[in-house]
Formats: sequence, C-alpha cells, structure tokens
Amino acid sequence: MKDLVRMRTSLAEEMQQLLNEQIKIEATSSAKYLAMASWCAEQGFVHSEAYFMEQAQEEREHMIKFFKYVNDAGGRAISPEVTNIPQDFESLRDIFETALEQEIGVTSTIYRLVESARKGRDYITEHFLQWFVQEQMEEEVNARRAVQLFDIIGEESGFNLYQIDKAIRKVRGGEGA
Ligand code: FEO
Repeated sequence: MKDLVRMRTSLAEEMQQLLNEQIKIEATSSAKYLAMASWCAEQGFVHSEAYFMEQAQEEREHMIKFFKYVNDAGGRAISPEVTNIPQDFESLRDIFETALEQEIGVTSTIYRLVESARKGRDYITEHFLQWFVQEQMEEEVNARRAVQLFDIIGEESGFNLYQIDKAIRKVRGGEGA
C-alpha cells in the first residue's frame, strides 16, 4: 500500500538529478540578483535596485516551482546550498551584462532539461518545462533591453547613468523603455 500511495517516481534518475541541479541554479540566480540589488542601492540606482529585487523574487519562485514538481513527481527535491555569490561589481553596465549572461546560461540549462525529457520520453516533465521555455524568452528580452540602454543613452556622465536607471524602471513593465 505504501508503495502504491507513494507511487513509483515517474522521474528517471538522471532527470531527477538535472532538476535538482536546476533548483540550485535558480536559487543561485536569486542570490546573485539580491547582491546586485544591494550594490545598486548603495550606489543610489533605486530603479535598478527595484529591478533586481523583483528578479530575485522571480528566481525564487522558479526554484520553488521546480522543487515542488520534483516532490510531486515522486522524486526527492534537494534544498540547495548556495555559496560564493559575487558581491562587488565594476559598474552598472557590468551588472546588467552579468545579468544577461546569467539568463542566457539559464536558458541553455532549461533547453538541456527539455532535450533530456524528450530523449527519455518523459512527456509530463517536457510539458512542465514549457512554461520555463517561454519565461526565459521574456527574461532574455528584458535583460537585453537593459543592456541596450547603455549604448542608446550613453554612460559618460552621472546624468546618463541617472537616465539609464530611470529607464530601467520601464523594462520589466514591458513598456519598451
Ligand atoms: Fe529562472 Fe531567470 O531564470
């Protein structure tokens, strides 16, 4: 009976491991965004701070979605250890470029999961992952837009940076800052 209630996990061992790795990646992303928010706060970039606080929250939600899925599928989600989070950055541009690289990296790990699910004929996991495929597209669009602002507005003066920070406020709102 116990076996019946618990149900054999529908997750293959390898898929479970990849999903647990993704849990850690999302948790790490969240922690990195928090560090970026702090740096922005310290430098007085209040809109960028808000941007990264929201990003941090979203990444935590992604982590929880994966976490719950692994447990719901009869696997065992591992609460991740998150260490070595960079706390210092060279500039506002450096932060947004790092954020874009991070999102591109996450997209590739999501794709790796989709490929693995497809290969293992794990259709339910493949279906579950579709939300993340879409989400990553949006996240990359936002991160790219933020980086573009530096070229469009320029970053020679404090006033330029002030304008960039102000424009960041609209990036997440999809207002096409
Ligand atoms: Fe959850 Fe932005 O990756």
